[in-house]
Amino acid sequence: MKVFVAGATGAIGRFLMPQLLAAGHAVIGMTRSEQGARAIRSMGAEAVVADVFDPAALNAAMARVLPDAVIHQLTAIPKVIDRRRLESQFGETNRLRTTGTRNLLEAASDSGARRFLAQSVSFAYAPIGAAVKTEEDLLYAGAPPKYRPLFDAVASLERQVLGAEAIEGVVVRYGFFYGPGTAYASDGSVANLVRKRRFPVVGGGRGVYSFIHLADAAAATVAALGREGPNVYNVVDDEPAEVRWWLPIYADALGAKKPFSAPAWLGRLAAGEYALYLMTEQRGASNVKAKAELGWAPRYPSWRQGFREALG
Ligand SMILES: NC(=O)c1ccc[n+]([C@@H]2O[C@H](COP(=O)([O-])OP(=O)(O)OC[C@H]3O[C@@H](n4cnc5c(N)ncnc54)[C@H](OP(=O)(O)O)[C@@H]3O)[C@@H](O)[C@H]2O)c1
Repeated sequence: MKVFVAGATGAIGRFLMPQLLAAGHAVIGMTRSEQGARAIRSMGAEAVVADVFDPAALNAAMARVLPDAVIHQLTAIPKVIDRRRLESQFGETNRLRTTGTRNLLEAASDSGARRFLAQSVSFAYAPIGAAVKTEEDLLYAGAPPKYRPLFDAVASLERQVLGAEAIEGVVVRYGFFYGPGTAYASDGSVANLVRKRRFPVVGGGRGVYSFIHLADAAAATVAALGREGPNVYNVVDDEPAEVRWWLPIYADALGAKKPFSAPAWLGRLAAGEYALYLMTEQRGASNVKAKAELGWAPRYPSWRQGFREALG
């Protein structure tokens, strides 16, 4: 297939591009800069320079390429997240998920592409009931106003992609990324906080995280590109885990001291409502469907092994 990748230079894009090429696809990567274009060409793919918020440039690029499939991997999460203002760090990513998705979908449909695969997250499920969610479960529609825009933007992306009429939409809900270039890599922002013992287990730490290594996320994405839409897959490892279980093991993998514990009120004061939600209420996700339908299994089935062997 001829595959157009928006977000080719990002954390997941850098893993995905080589895997698409290795699978035999003709791959075109999109970036906003000449530097990005050089990076894409050095991976062995073709590059186009366009901003997703410039529909004229985007449509022209897509009309030139005429892809069979378009992959949406656009986010703009700051490299260093200010945990005291966690909720306000996602404005640009929200815009990429709402307006950016609309622009990309339109350009893809107008150019005659058959399939549209988009990045979502496995940590937007409603925090009610079971600790581990399947694709059938509800997304979080009633989040508190402070962090509701984040969940609303994810829901908008999924609605647009899965409801598209002129193109088959596939959504991949990735777990928390780790690996080179992520916040959990040994030079990443979470690692720095954990080393400084400023990432405690808050409020008992019963919030559930599902992780996925970037290489495994890319492999599942290549497989999902071959599936008909509309369709949704959780792309996570085999072991959803409460914060109180994974955080000490992550600290150990970094060679850091054991994290402190902190009460919920202190966590809320220091890091805000959303951080407290992540620590205490968030649900994990199941990869049963992805494994059954994609012929995929993660090379790092558990973060226990992945943190030690491939943190980046
Ligand atoms: N599931 C998860 O845990 C998850 C999901 C996403 C991100 N993250 C984390 O967030 C951090 C940053 O990663 P990231 O992927 O957001 O940032 P990134 O690595 O800087 O990548 C963002 C990608 O989106 C492109 N992009 C952004 N705005 C664009 C626009 N207006 N028009 C066209 N392209 C645009 C960028 O292209 P150019 O800059 O080349 O133009 C780049 O390819 C990492 O730590 C990553 O692990 C985590």
